[in-house]
Amino acid sequence: MTIQRANNFSAGPAVLPLEVLQKAQEEMLNYRGSGSSIIELSHRGPEYTEVDRMARERLTRILGLGDDFEILFYQGGASLQFMMIPYNFMFGKTADYINTGTWSKKAIKEAKIFGDVHVAFTSLETNFSRVPTDDELKFSGKGEYLHFTSNNTIFGTQFKKEPASDGMLLACDASSDFLSKPLDMSRYGVLYAGAQKNAGPAGVTIVILRKELLEKARRENVSSMLSYPVQVGTLYNTPPVFGVYIFQYVLEWIEEKGGLEAMDKLNHDKAALLYDEMDKDDFFRGTAEKASRSLMNVTFRLKEEDLEKTFIEESKKAGLSGLKGHRSVGGMRASIYNACPSASVEALVSFMQEFRRKYG
Ligand SMILES: Cc1ncc(COP(=O)(O)O)c(C=O)c1O
Repeated sequence: MTIQRANNFSAGPAVLPLEVLQKAQEEMLNYRGSGSSIIELSHRGPEYTEVDRMARERLTRILGLGDDFEILFYQGGASLQFMMIPYNFMFGKTADYINTGTWSKKAIKEAKIFGDVHVAFTSLETNFSRVPTDDELKFSGKGEYLHFTSNNTIFGTQFKKEPASDGMLLACDASSDFLSKPLDMSRYGVLYAGAQKNAGPAGVTIVILRKELLEKARRENVSSMLSYPVQVGTLYNTPPVFGVYIFQYVLEWIEEKGGLEAMDKLNHDKAALLYDEMDKDDFFRGTAEKASRSLMNVTFRLKEEDLEKTFIEESKKAGLSGLKGHRSVGGMRASIYNACPSASVEALVSFMQEFRRKYG
């Protein structure tokens, strides 16, 4: 049976590998002979315990994590981590933040509740069209950590490598480029990502914590659900079982495809198809500065902005979904995460060419 799948460019929740969805479909009613679905079984039983173990093992292998890191599968989205990081590590002190867009701003807003935020860089004045170079960062000299958003989902910008941090450990919101490329984990104190872009369904947030930082977490008068030291190494409450289950299969898929180096190569190739098309003339215009362009979220406008509505409408008719840009940027956004097939990107490029021929 051929399966009719959309060319899906949604920013999140987003396209997942077909193989993963098929596996979940096959196992949905009877997980490996148990006679129950994985979401009907105890999170402390042997089946889920194995899912959890495999997910941790694969993630450790894929990211090359040493035993100096802890992994948490959390609920509450990346947005809860905006609060938990300052709650645990900043309390009454200073932390440095890089402001590159909506999600950074939200992280900063939460941090201000708990201590002094030093903004090391902001690209607000150019409507967040870029990320900083290392020499533009102005540090406080007393930050507990440096927080940054590795990929700015809304504005279509991305850090090409970890920013300079003046010796501070990095705290990173990697929600929209997690597992899309290799990382230098030696720089990170904490890295977190809502799964619903590159890693799985909404409902699970992956938090990777350096033990050395964990040692410094606040332990007095803390709420258990919000305390990393309480949460680490135990199933304190029911974990997001389905999310971790799918995540485990996404990790398997990444390993089968050749790991993060292979993802990075694929992502470069896919993004190049779109950016090359955009750069051919001034009919399309990228909204991010070239050096900051994201490989995950390609944001663009039309020279004739009035035509954008037509572009969105006609693209939907052509079987391309999720291309409308975020309301704060307008225009179009093609989210082309790991699982977005090259064929979908090629279909979008053909559509763009046709649209230019028709209206250019
Ligand atoms: C970079 C980034 N951070 C945080 C969030 C918020 O994630 P959540 O909805 O899981 O809280 C998003 C969601 O789109 C995002 O793109």
